[in-house]
Amino acid sequence: MDHFDYRNGVLHAEDVPLASVAERFGTPCYVYSRATLERHFRAYDEALGSHPHLICYAVKANSNLAVLNVLARLGAGFDIVSRGELERVMAAGGDPAKVVFSGVAKQEDEMARALELGIKCFNVESLPELERLNAVAERLGKVAPVSLRVNPDVDARTHPYISTGLKDNKFGIPVDDALAAYERAAALPHLEVVGVDCHIGSQLTELAPFLDALDRLLALLERLEERGIQVEHLDLGGGLGVPYQGERPPEPFAYATALLERLASRGGRSLTLLFEPGRSIAANAGVMLTRVEFLKPGETKNFAIVDAAMNDLIRPALYQAWQAILPVDTREPRESATFDVAGPVCETGDFLGKDRELAIAPGDLLAVRSAGAYGFVMASNYNSRPRPAEVMVDGETLHLVRRRERVEELWNGEALLPDGPEAS
Ligand code: LLP
Repeated sequence: MDHFDYRNGVLHAEDVPLASVAERFGTPCYVYSRATLERHFRAYDEALGSHPHLICYAVKANSNLAVLNVLARLGAGFDIVSRGELERVMAAGGDPAKVVFSGVAKQEDEMARALELGIKCFNVESLPELERLNAVAERLGKVAPVSLRVNPDVDARTHPYISTGLKDNKFGIPVDDALAAYERAAALPHLEVVGVDCHIGSQLTELAPFLDALDRLLALLERLEERGIQVEHLDLGGGLGVPYQGERPPEPFAYATALLERLASRGGRSLTLLFEPGRSIAANAGVMLTRVEFLKPGETKNFAIVDAAMNDLIRPALYQAWQAILPVDTREPRESATFDVAGPVCETGDFLGKDRELAIAPGDLLAVRSAGAYGFVMASNYNSRPRPAEVMVDGETLHLVRRRERVEELWNGEALLPDGPEAS
């Protein structure tokens, strides 16, 4: 459930008509709904009830400071993958003691900063990373809390680019090698084993792969216990899907209930559960607004050329992702036709949607739905296009949470060669 609805034919974010956002801040523009973010976070939090848990929002999905701040105020933890994300969490008022650090290539300076701030856990993905972390912690006179990211080899049945739990993915430690890796971790003096972690993929629409992964982790835990290695938490990663095009992924409540039942039946009641949801919190809490520039009827195709492009929202071009595209104002009667919705970037792959039935005219506003996750964060300056503005709606109030990039900012940090004779 989200807070983007038509009221008298006009699409609103909470109590704000989206046309007024475009009027004030221009297009393209991302619009987030605070109430939706909060609702999605609480859905997880409440589903877990009194079972000890921590919801670590995956910062990569949408790292705008205001988004992080809204979640931090609800007590969220954060899953980070870089120093940049860590500093964003800090700037947004997040609690470092609730941060878990994922990623296959953590740098020494990133480890050092995270140790200095006292994060909850490093999700370690390889043996050499264990050694590196131990060395950094030793240098700083600290003990690093660690969890090994185990690759359980389950098929998440999602797009291959966002499936991460299979043997041939670069992520994690193969489940068969995990025991030896844990023994190594337990033997290193500047590491403390605190958890087991996995993340099997993103946009999962079924429970079965999650339950399979849980079973494999629980089997591993039993073997760890036999060897005297105790963990406090089990981190099941993110990955719960969202409805983009009629999919019906399980709701957080069904997901959490199924996991808790399985956990109880396997004697894991006392384990704290961690989750790293990104998409299921942020995707449907945001839309991208864009304006129709021209309609280009063609022999085989009609194009609606809009002012947003693949540099602003790359998911359709990169993953052939389908996101709903809706007219913001449906009050004026218009003729309907089938369009490819395409942007100004000079690539055939630059589209936001294909074969969409739309009743539109030049100048109309469109909303691309489900754009709150992996939207702005994946935007680039390709074709020297400034990145869009981001706005957060809260009831009937609008907050500009990132102003539109300025053209002069496009070459920030670049330099001309000095004057002088040409090299021969
Ligand atoms: N934890 C880890 C270790 C991850 O790698 C990810 C996502 C998450 C949590 C959050 O997963 P979520 O709950 O959002 O599914 N750009 C792609 C998605 C890439 C996801 C990468 N990892 C897309 O636009 O579909």
